[in-house]
Amino acid sequence: MGKGSGYGKVILFGEHFVVHGVPGIVSAIDSSTDAIVTKAKNGLIIKDERKTAKGYSEEKRLQQIESIERMLKAMELDPKTPLDIWIGGSLPGFSGLGASAASSVAIARAINEEFNLSLSNERINQIAYEAEIAYAGNPSGIDNTAATYGGLMLFKKNPAGGQDHIERLKIQEPIEIVIGSTGKVANTKAMVEGVAERKKANPTKYDPLFNQAEALAAAGCKALEAGNLKEVGELMNENHKILQEIGVSSIELDHLVDIARKQGAIGAKLTGGGGGGCMVALTPSKELQEKVANAFKTEGLEFLATKIGAITH
Ligand code: MEV
Repeated sequence: MGKGSGYGKVILFGEHFVVHGVPGIVSAIDSSTDAIVTKAKNGLIIKDERKTAKGYSEEKRLQQIESIERMLKAMELDPKTPLDIWIGGSLPGFSGLGASAASSVAIARAINEEFNLSLSNERINQIAYEAEIAYAGNPSGIDNTAATYGGLMLFKKNPAGGQDHIERLKIQEPIEIVIGSTGKVANTKAMVEGVAERKKANPTKYDPLFNQAEALAAAGCKALEAGNLKEVGELMNENHKILQEIGVSSIELDHLVDIARKQGAIGAKLTGGGGGGCMVALTPSKELQEKVANAFKTEGLEFLATKIGAITH
């Protein structure tokens, strides 16, 4: 029996743009997915006990099987190796929280232990990237990197396929956030493909937005490290606007963003692939965090009240 886990994450700046080589800022959150893997006699049996949005497991089923086969292949094992896999942990299966990457890292680590492969974290991260291809088509690698290493970081994909740029960010203290879920399952692969197609078809509109995303990530980094949270919040609001422009927000996400801002969140934006899934509100104090969380509760929405920069290793 082998065990493993992977962190959930929240993207503060740059989702989607990061796929095309623009830097993004991501923080691991203190919720993780755990996996237990046992060699079996026949086939692949997955017991998924995560709390999920309605329909999440069914929607992701085929991608999940493909992701496991891709990981086994990357580990030079037979992709059809019979396995019993249990998945659970504190990270809910909501789109946008890196649930697929967290589960892939957890499963990769558990396989590593069960088969005594002695893989480094760097290899686990590369293997989880292979799994992410099943879920996102052309992933940037930001989710699996946060799921593997934790921390708060600036991530820039190497478009040539070599080493990505990973820069750890230092903030004075962890910052409270509220993550709100629309309850809608999103197809990350379709969202990523949609952006790539629209970008190609309309460079006059998209090129300036990509430049703006780059500037926002750079300013976001500075503001976070300087502890200028008001500015971080304003930049997040700007980031939400350009995500709307590239067509990845939704009525539900915009509604949650509005609720959070009305309650005093100093910034709010969708997080992750969009098209459903989750948004993140910057609420830097226990009181403000509770206020926003209570508003979500009143609306009957699922949420996570957590912190960025709290997982430091
Ligand atoms: C998903 O959490 C983030 C995306 O940018 C996809 C990726 O970077 O792989 C939408």
